[in-house]
Amino acid sequence: MENLMNLADLFTPRARELVPPLWGPSAASEGTPTISLAYGLADPLVLPREELVETTAQILATDVDAVLNYAPVAAELVTLVAERLRREGVAAHEQQVIITYGSSQILGLLPQILVNPGDTILVEAPTFMGAVGLFVRAGAQLVGVPVDANGLDVDALETVLRDLRARGVRPKFIYTIPNFQNPTGTTLSLARRQRIVALAAEYGVIVVEDDAYSDLRFHGEPLPPMAALDQEGWVLRVGTFSKILAPGLRVGWAHGPKALIDRLRMVKVEGSSSPFISHLVARFSAEGRLDTHITSLRRHYAAKCATMITALHRELPELPFVPPDGGFFIWLRLPEGVSGRELEPVALQQGVEVLHGNRCYADGSGAEYVRLAFSYVPETQIAGAIQRLGNSIRAVMR
Ligand SMILES: Cc1ncc(COP(=O)(O)O)c(C=O)c1O
Repeated sequence: MENLMNLADLFTPRARELVPPLWGPSAASEGTPTISLAYGLADPLVLPREELVETTAQILATDVDAVLNYAPVAAELVTLVAERLRREGVAAHEQQVIITYGSSQILGLLPQILVNPGDTILVEAPTFMGAVGLFVRAGAQLVGVPVDANGLDVDALETVLRDLRARGVRPKFIYTIPNFQNPTGTTLSLARRQRIVALAAEYGVIVVEDDAYSDLRFHGEPLPPMAALDQEGWVLRVGTFSKILAPGLRVGWAHGPKALIDRLRMVKVEGSSSPFISHLVARFSAEGRLDTHITSLRRHYAAKCATMITALHRELPELPFVPPDGGFFIWLRLPEGVSGRELEPVALQQGVEVLHGNRCYADGSGAEYVRLAFSYVPETQIAGAIQRLGNSIRAVMR
């Protein structure tokens, strides 16, 4: 009888396999407070708290039904997203934009319309661990395609596509992060963008272009998104306000082929994503305020990145990494024989939290790397954090 009353028996087999999400900086350890370099959180110093308070008062003083009742997302937000896309050269249409609870929601919904258990998705190796979790959860087979200093290796991509075709497998999509990739910080070259778009058309595969970081460019000129190069309608461009405004607002979007966007709307069962927050973001962003804010973010994060690079060159001069042109991350190669998995707890003891590289690979490889986020740590603590990391690496080597 007791067995029959066990609550866990009610879970579906899929629910039983779930693991808790990785989430946020660890609680401070006893003694020295931990400095976290593990997660791509926004710097609290640049979250525009006062402006959002003012903007909240403004929107609440307008149309209460539109803002606080059951209502669609603000049309102004859809227009804002479409206009920003047109500025990047994408032939964007408002009807082809969907607003969601963060771009993560898109990555969670996509498998619902594209993936049966056993279907293939191509991902960069390494890639954004949150996406890996969502795709694996849907039962997808992930095939990793390597990333080098210029982003996704397109020769390797072509080989994988050819081999899969020879086995009668048509992958559902290629998931790529073209700018300041999470976790490697690398940027996909223009020639590679063109080649990926051509391969997508040749093989009939969707490209999911997750460009969470493109606005946070510190150096160099922006490159056209693949959505702007695509003539055949294979690219779904995914973006977020998390990195340029505030992650806590949970506002993301996608633009792409109408048939795909329409299906995404149909599986987004809760309907519109917070009318209130969508009005808030639209009003905050109006009259060039978002652009001004992004300009100051770029300066802020560029300085922190430079500070981390200087500290790494001083503390660990022999360890290679590609200096990122933007974004939140540095991907550090560890000395021969030191694994990130082994390093992580030692570093935590020394008071610095890092993310070991295995977490960013679908197949658990990447032991020789750690990801360092410079976004969240106060700039004054970066040098100290890297010093602790250096001590930890030397301790593991002994
Ligand atoms: C590449 C990439 N895509 C998506 C996300 C998730 O963003 P959002 O807050 O919009 O869900 C992140 C966040 O770290 C990311 O790095």
